[in-house]
Amino acid sequence: MTRAHTLADLLQVGEVRHLQGPDEQRALGAALVPALSPGAVLFLEGELGAGKTTLTGGLIGALGFDGPVTSPTYALMHAYPTPSGRALHVDAYRVRDVQELYEMDLEDLIADSRLSVIEWGEGLYADYPDAPILRLEHVEGLGEVRRLTRMR
Ligand SMILES: Nc1ncnc2c1ncn2[C@@H]1O[C@H](COP(=O)(O)OP(=O)(O)OP(=O)(O)O)[C@@H](O)[C@H]1O
Ligand SMILES: [Mg+2]
Repeated sequence: MTRAHTLADLLQVGEVRHLQGPDEQRALGAALVPALSPGAVLFLEGELGAGKTTLTGGLIGALGFDGPVTSPTYALMHAYPTPSGRALHVDAYRVRDVQELYEMDLEDLIADSRLSVIEWGEGLYADYPDAPILRLEHVEGLGEVRRLTRMR
């Protein structure tokens, strides 16, 4: 009998990966999907251009959405229909107070989604203590490489 992978089977807390180019970034995202159960939240942190949205594209693509996944910086959130349910992509960069997100019914949206990926969501970490956090960083001198660390 095969057992479903847990996230720790794929990526343990503290583990570091180096990803060469957007395709590897997307592939990593896609690989994580089976380990994220319905209603799951995944936090992505890291500086501008670190690859958070690129990784999200891999996750949402692997759920079966075959259009482009673009930054919701101005819309705050994008919802993508997938065969296994809605995928939510939140970018809280411009949110000053998490209360703004809760006023948008974020809690219910998350609960009813197949997966919610949240960029710049530090203000929500305490409210979603079971949600993994991945940090992405540029690597000095290597323009196409990103270092990914599972923080939680
Ligand atoms: N290994 C890599 N992983 C991810 N992106 C990469 C990589 N190498 C190059 N890139 C490029 O870096 C950019 C990453 O942009 P992306 O929008 O994914 O970042 P972000 O972390 O979401 O930024 P923001 O905080 O502005 O939303 C893209 O232009 C992508 O093509
Ligand atoms: Mg982004």
